[in-house]
Amino acid sequence: MGKFIIEQSAPLCGEVEISGAKNAVLPIMAATILAEDTYEINDAPQLRDVDVMCRLLRQMGAEVEEDYTQNKINIKMGPITAEEVPYDLVKRMRASFFVLGPLLAKTGRAKIALPGGCTIGDRPVELHLKGLRILGAQINDAHGYVEAVADKLKGGKVYLDFPSVGATENIMMAATLAEGVTFIENAAQEPEIVDLANFLNKMGAKIKGAGTDTIKIEGVEALHGCRHAVIPDRIETGTFMVAAAISRGDILIRNAVSDHVKPVIAKLIECGVVIDETDEGMRVRGDVNPLIATDIKTLPYPGFPTDMQAQFMALLTTVEGPSVVIENVFENRFMHVGELNRMGANIKIDGKSSMIPGGKHLYGAEVICTDLRGGAAVVLAGLVAEGTTEVSEIYHVDRGYEKFVEKLTGLGAKISRIDEE
Ligand code: UD1
Repeated sequence: MGKFIIEQSAPLCGEVEISGAKNAVLPIMAATILAEDTYEINDAPQLRDVDVMCRLLRQMGAEVEEDYTQNKINIKMGPITAEEVPYDLVKRMRASFFVLGPLLAKTGRAKIALPGGCTIGDRPVELHLKGLRILGAQINDAHGYVEAVADKLKGGKVYLDFPSVGATENIMMAATLAEGVTFIENAAQEPEIVDLANFLNKMGAKIKGAGTDTIKIEGVEALHGCRHAVIPDRIETGTFMVAAAISRGDILIRNAVSDHVKPVIAKLIECGVVIDETDEGMRVRGDVNPLIATDIKTLPYPGFPTDMQAQFMALLTTVEGPSVVIENVFENRFMHVGELNRMGANIKIDGKSSMIPGGKHLYGAEVICTDLRGGAAVVLAGLVAEGTTEVSEIYHVDRGYEKFVEKLTGLGAKISRIDEE
């Protein structure tokens, strides 16, 4: 169990390089189950969640080599030796559930522990299961496990009641080896879905329409290995954009795809942040104008990402005037509010809405990371809070930010990490 010790810092200035996207690399690694072959995955971030996925693949019979000096993961997928994923792995990382679709399509059977509740609300999986049932799987759940069986999956039309990212990915992966054509309607449109579809197409799949609300997958007999570079992490990008804003700094963000962070750009501009896209990267300046309030509503892509809500809220506590933040994607994703309030934010919650009075001079306190993005939010708040902020439960942040302390320190932040037994 480690801690971050953060001192009030000067405005963050300098350059930062964005890593590969956590939410892209995890389903891509799961997709390697679909063919016994070798894969080279470049721009893979060194993260706790990626480690869990490596362990999971090894348990299933893959040889996985992680080389983070080059951010490369080599996978040699052998014959599948285990079709079960135990609770121990699923509870560490919900994305373990992504192996359900590929495992079922490849071996005809998969047994996976149900994710259960998690800190950001009850995260059900009925849309994943509905899709796989339409493709012909028999699914039973008992004793905390889902067991899916199918001799041969068959294409079908799946309408998702909500554009779930994980359900779209699981169904898309399963459909690549199904007999006939599958349509996923009201599909999630996140850039990570497009990256996964590009990876699957390199493996020989026939997928069209990824990135729109209808994805067409023509099943093929077999897939093969490939080489792929993961897209940059848009949530890490957004987090450093907010770091520039909250500290009233000036940061050049390299390796970001600005198209993937359009809503974050729009909202920061509404607050008075100046953003220039240059050949070298995105320059984000929070030191040009006095920053003012704005309202946020989280929505599926291309709406404002729920994964940026907590960090943006930290910023809004420091700007002039009141803001309202509405969380539409997850129930119960305001756990970080209690922590920000310990630092003097005075935020009030009413159902899906939270009211942020703004104009606060935050002060340092002992706080915890309530979850991955909530953890990033308290770190950002700590950088501008008066005095010392001590952040514990930082393993959440390790799940999704590569070299977070090093990158922040490189921008002048006064943050250090204490690793305790
Ligand atoms: C993914 C991301 C996560 C992000 C989220 C929303 C990964 C590894 N994680 O999570 O960082 O916050 O997208 O952008 O990519 N739902 C159902 N039934 C289902 C599935 C989902 O009701 O069967 C609901 C969930 O409860 C939630 C909403 O749909 O309210 C969004 O969930 P979903 O898009 O599935 O998120 P994840 O794929 O879990």
